[in-house]
Amino acid sequence: MSNKIDGSAYASNLRKKLAVDVAIATEQAGKAPGLTVVLVGEDPASQVYVRRKGEQATEVGIISNEHRLPETASQEELLALVEQLNNDPEVHGILVQLPLPKQIDEKTVLTAILPEKDVDGFHPVNVGRLSIGDESLLPCTPHGSVHLIKSALGDNLSGLNAVVVGRSNIVGKPMAALLLQESCTVTIVHSRTKNIEAICAQADILVAAVGRPEMINADWIKPGACVIDVGINRIQRDGKNKLVGDVDYASAFEKAGAITPVPGGVGPMTIAMLLVNTLTAFKRLEKIG
Ligand code: GUN
Repeated sequence: MSNKIDGSAYASNLRKKLAVDVAIATEQAGKAPGLTVVLVGEDPASQVYVRRKGEQATEVGIISNEHRLPETASQEELLALVEQLNNDPEVHGILVQLPLPKQIDEKTVLTAILPEKDVDGFHPVNVGRLSIGDESLLPCTPHGSVHLIKSALGDNLSGLNAVVVGRSNIVGKPMAALLLQESCTVTIVHSRTKNIEAICAQADILVAAVGRPEMINADWIKPGACVIDVGINRIQRDGKNKLVGDVDYASAFEKAGAITPVPGGVGPMTIAMLLVNTLTAFKRLEKIG
């Protein structure tokens, strides 16, 4: 029996179900959900993600649009575009791809997106709603990770020890909030944490989101633990470009009860949850179902 968590297969199943739900909602509303992705600049990794998001949205029946602004675009230009999308009744989901060029303040832009269309779940209103357990649009990577954890451990995570490595606004903090909502005992560890390895080795659920290639090996892992690797790191090995996670997969695989690979783990789930959020936003904005 394999202890690998197949995120690609899980996401593919989810998209099949989603396509049915999108078709029903489209029938009810008399129009299809619309997702607009904004990309500023030419970052190669961002271009790949944005293209995938567009392709998969189309595949499930969501109308996908892409706006590209040059690397030199001003904050005012981007804010004007966001404002136009906020007011467009055909746009139900807005995603501004991060990172943004340095002349643009990320927080200002994310706060300008209408919370009801914020399919990334990054607007302070949605962050606040998540932290008090209110209905919101949930950040895609943490939400997708919870699905994968439940696919391995079952729906009841109550009382489990969860350790989140990393404290970013995009993954670490919302991940901790979601696991707390599942009644886990949650610890966040980070670069300043003392005895980080020993704390991780207590975890029934270990989520790695630090962006340091293969930092976590078998010594950090409790036997049988569920390990979720959010890292996507491009490295050079044996003269070849390689994609690796924050976890040393080969050694961790031997000790974990369940573990996500990179690629093919959390990544595909992030996009699937973006599509789920777009349908949720659509239903709320169009007042259906
Ligand atoms: N860049 C890396 N991950 C993400 C994400 O989840 N959303 C957005 N908007 N940008 C990202």
